[in-house]
Amino acid sequence: MGSSKLSTHLHTDFQVREHQSSVLIGETGSGKTTQVPQFLLAAELGSGKIAVTQPRRVAAMSVASRVAQEMDVELGKEVGYLIRFEDMTSEETRLKYMTDGMLLRECQIDPFMSQYSVIILDEAHERTLATDILFGLLKEVLLKRPELRCLVMSATLEAEKFQDYWTGAPLLRIPGRMFPVETFFTLRPEKDYVAAAVETCCLINAHEGPGDVLCFLCGEEEIEKACAEIQARAEETGQETLVLPLYSSLPMNQQRRVFPPAPEGTRKIIVATNIAETSLTIDGVVFVVDPGLFKQMLYNPRTHVESLLVSPISKASAMQRAGRAGRTRPGKCFRLYTLETFEKELPESTYPEIIRSNLSSVVISLKKLGVDDIVHFDFMEPPSPESMMRALEMLYFLGAIDEEGDLTDIGSKMADFPVDPHLSRSIIASARHSCLEEVIQIIAMLSVPPPFSRPRYAQKAADKAHKHFASGYGDHLSLLNAYRAYVDCGSKAEFCREHFLSERNMRQAENVRKQLASLARKSSHLESLENGHEKMLTTSIRKAFVEGFFMQCAHLDESGKHYLTVQDQQMVAIHPSSFLQHKAEWVLYHETVVTDRCYMRNATAIPPEMLIEVATKFYHPDRCKLTAHAKKMLRRALPRAKVAN
Ligand code: CDP
Ligand code: MG
Repeated sequence: MGSSKLSTHLHTDFQVREHQSSVLIGETGSGKTTQVPQFLLAAELGSGKIAVTQPRRVAAMSVASRVAQEMDVELGKEVGYLIRFEDMTSEETRLKYMTDGMLLRECQIDPFMSQYSVIILDEAHERTLATDILFGLLKEVLLKRPELRCLVMSATLEAEKFQDYWTGAPLLRIPGRMFPVETFFTLRPEKDYVAAAVETCCLINAHEGPGDVLCFLCGEEEIEKACAEIQARAEETGQETLVLPLYSSLPMNQQRRVFPPAPEGTRKIIVATNIAETSLTIDGVVFVVDPGLFKQMLYNPRTHVESLLVSPISKASAMQRAGRAGRTRPGKCFRLYTLETFEKELPESTYPEIIRSNLSSVVISLKKLGVDDIVHFDFMEPPSPESMMRALEMLYFLGAIDEEGDLTDIGSKMADFPVDPHLSRSIIASARHSCLEEVIQIIAMLSVPPPFSRPRYAQKAADKAHKHFASGYGDHLSLLNAYRAYVDCGSKAEFCREHFLSERNMRQAENVRKQLASLARKSSHLESLENGHEKMLTTSIRKAFVEGFFMQCAHLDESGKHYLTVQDQQMVAIHPSSFLQHKAEWVLYHETVVTDRCYMRNATAIPPEMLIEVATKFYHPDRCKLTAHAKKMLRRALPRAKVAN
């Protein structure tokens, strides 16, 4: 922040002291996240802690570690972070970086946020679901706690919108120095954006003057691929180049490598996801390569499909990305799309997540937070009535809310778990079916990136090794087999190498399991009865999952070739990576992913009589709303089902 540091400090301190809520706008990289919380800590605005929310886990971790370093304290003591499944805070923590989702979760237990004196909602321009909800909650809490201070921080996007919402909040601006950035567009649309990005990085490396390169791509796989190609091409031409990936699932120590300057005479090329757009700032970047795309979670309330899709960025994002090139001196931004695309096809700003997400988790959390009238909740941008109705309907089917829309006992227990309502419902059911441990292990495996690795050079060997864990029932039980084998083995590293498992993802799954198990222990009346017989277990586990996922099942159609989902009769196929090899009549799936077609990922065969027994309302052939063919199959199974007629 340079010379403006002191004045910004005094100003912010004064404003936050005088006003209960303030909005702080500052160019990305101006020190909002790392500096402002330190000022406020020094200003001693109260006896409580300071919370700083971040939409991304990586940012919370990385920034906390940076600030601890700056303050010369051990991470986890005065300065710590809290993200889902990882708590790096202690009694001593005064400054707590955390994901917005975690603060939301804390509000369930402590609706007045009483451990904090100051709450900083950072990266507000990202408009994540959790931040949007926190806005509404915080507005209420501020009325009840006059001493509480709230600071909303955002990159220079939509300042007015925030001010409108936070009526009366003064607007602070951190003066940001920005050098001019020259922007180039392509003349024709690019067919392959990854190849185009690689090519552009190599051209910059060969023909441009000194300065680091920041290239945006969409996901781990394409980033690693691009890095390898750029590195190889640089070596061919003998240029000193340091190519580094940056994405959220990258281990911490590797993430840190992007910050320090490269050795004299070496050019640093960082290939990153959207995380480098505003959450993390890397100094020394002079060239930006922007394909104009990012991965965003999109939920279609009509089809219930939630998928991570590569989508065009907004104009505001494009400006942010370009801005990354002009932080230290004049820079250049190479956009891999045409000027016409920029002008006509990119939306002005990114849609807030609340408008494009599955609301059922939101609704259940709000209910647990005591917000009864969800329709009139003070959302900055209210979700569509259609997705709200869908969410309420789904929770009603799951038994989480009753006909009046009030949270049931089951719903209240479900809200204790930081997972999708389908999963929390399965956890609750598993206790009754004496398979709590197993279901939690499976959910832990479902919550991490796919643990089965399949490197290009050893696909056959990997497939063979994975067969080891295969269960004829399908993926859920295969995941359980893999998890159990991993826990029981001697050397984890060796075991993972031999069986082509990602050790990192397995370790993460272990961690998730631990957290879920501890939540289950705390949750009232939730304990597993004596574990059933191993043979019974496969049945009980599937029953528990049916309780949570009976709406996420599909059946073969009349031709026996395709699957149709039970909710929307959408055509889906079993994912090629599935352990489920035979065409079971009925399958339950964890999620759908859309690539070239719509696939069910993590699928398990379910006998129809089990569906009728567990979700009678939904599957009884006389009462269900399924296709004639589905009814026929269910009618055949009816005599085997134990249901009262
Ligand atoms: O939040 P905002 O975008 O305003 O800026 P910041 O994240 O607080 O970054 C301020 C400065 O700290 C930038 O120059 C970053 O490059 C630097 N920084 C760093 O060197 N290492 C980190 N892990 C985080 C920030
Ligand atoms: Mg920041």
